[in-house]
Amino acid sequence: MSDTIKIGIAGLGTVGAGLIKIIQKNSKILAARSGKSIEIIAVSALSKSKDRGVDLSAYEWENDPINLAKRDDIDVFVELIGGEDGSAKQATEAAIKHGKHVVTANKAMLAMYGQELAISAESNNVNLRFEAAVAGGIPVIKALTESLAGNNITRIMGVMNGTCNYILTRMEDTGLPYEEIFEEANQLGFLEADPNLDVGGIDAAHKLVLLSSIAYGTQVDFEGAVLEGIGRISIEDIRAASEMGYRIKLLGVSTINKLGLSQTMRPCLVPASSPLAQLDGGTNMIIIEGDAVGQIVLRGAGAGEGPTASAVIADILDIARGINIPVFGQPANSLKKVPSINTTVENSFYLRLNLKDEAGILAKVSAALANAGISIDRIRQEVHETDAAPVIIVTHPTERDLLNKAIAEIEATSAAIDPPVVLRIETV
Ligand SMILES: NC(=O)c1ccc[n+]([C@@H]2O[C@H](COP(=O)([O-])OP(=O)(O)OC[C@H]3O[C@@H](n4cnc5c(N)ncnc54)[C@H](OP(=O)(O)O)[C@@H]3O)[C@@H](O)[C@H]2O)c1
Repeated sequence: MSDTIKIGIAGLGTVGAGLIKIIQKNSKILAARSGKSIEIIAVSALSKSKDRGVDLSAYEWENDPINLAKRDDIDVFVELIGGEDGSAKQATEAAIKHGKHVVTANKAMLAMYGQELAISAESNNVNLRFEAAVAGGIPVIKALTESLAGNNITRIMGVMNGTCNYILTRMEDTGLPYEEIFEEANQLGFLEADPNLDVGGIDAAHKLVLLSSIAYGTQVDFEGAVLEGIGRISIEDIRAASEMGYRIKLLGVSTINKLGLSQTMRPCLVPASSPLAQLDGGTNMIIIEGDAVGQIVLRGAGAGEGPTASAVIADILDIARGINIPVFGQPANSLKKVPSINTTVENSFYLRLNLKDEAGILAKVSAALANAGISIDRIRQEVHETDAAPVIIVTHPTERDLLNKAIAEIEATSAAIDPPVVLRIETV
């Protein structure tokens, strides 16, 4: 084996440029830790002339990332283009086929094609590493595949989208409505080109399904995840939650039992005293529970140039050290296919209903809940000046399916002016 590991980098945006800065700045540390010098051979992006704040003069340029992926003189192909298919996927496939290790930060591609790419990488005896794809600088993939490998993992929870956390915490701090804070986040450049990837919970769910696969030895199943974004959270919900001792977070929760795998990414109420509730701004947090370790909490920057590039370089160093772990912690062709289920546990729920201000309406709501076997823990009607009467109900623990039944009955009575806001109250 040579004492140099040669890499090609496709994508020179936030993460790609950050990676080059680390390799240029910390070259001696990297060589000392991995026993090999890390040499960038060639790079690829759309525009050759764009100033990226790094000196690229020592590297060859490839217009086509697929050609870069196939080069005989690289050992590792680093995919930092992004997007679930297109050039990123084609170049990744080409690299694997040509016997190159791959390091990627691309959660969208792995959430959709992780299973097939992992099988292909393992049959070609190359690494496919993706620490940077989940929660940026937080070493959660390594924690699950290595440090916690002896545990039966029982639950994973996390706040995995910094933009949503920024919007929710800013709404709470300023008392301003969702639309205004959404616009502020947009002006600050926090939102993806398609904002629904962030506020619709899609980006965070991409990350959750990758963690589930490692934790439970199951096939990556994005289609089975239940998603709900933060777009319907109002300032009234945030205030009501706060008055009851909770904060609202876009929370990913994944659990498994003999019936199947539950993966949900939804706004939830979490106790104000819990570590998740303390999370402000763009920070991410992942909570992992295992039968031996108990509960561990990982917290840090979930995105950004330095943190994400820090995770990418760690994967490159592991490859330089000769470490070869199956992509999802066990051979990809042994990952189980399990049914997706809504949830494995009972929870209390927060309901905000905008009811018609008429006699007997509240009785109809109570009857619908009672018919589904759901008992009410707390109920309150907000002061209102219009014909719509906002009512907040907190249920005792129940199954989501039963609650859905009750909501369908409430909607059938036309008691509610618009669909209710339903938020799970998560125990942490
Ligand atoms: N940014 C973060 O904080 C973060 C955190 C975690 C994970 N990630 C993931 O990291 C990956 C990269 O993200 P990023 O934020 O660095 O993206 P970015 O700033 O948009 O950079 C994308 C790069 O890919 C290049 N590119 C686009 N299409 C190409 C093609 N067909 N051939 C060659 N190059 C192409 C672009 O070239 P030009 O520069 O010439 O346009 C650009 O340099 C994504 O998968 C993302 O989800 C990012």
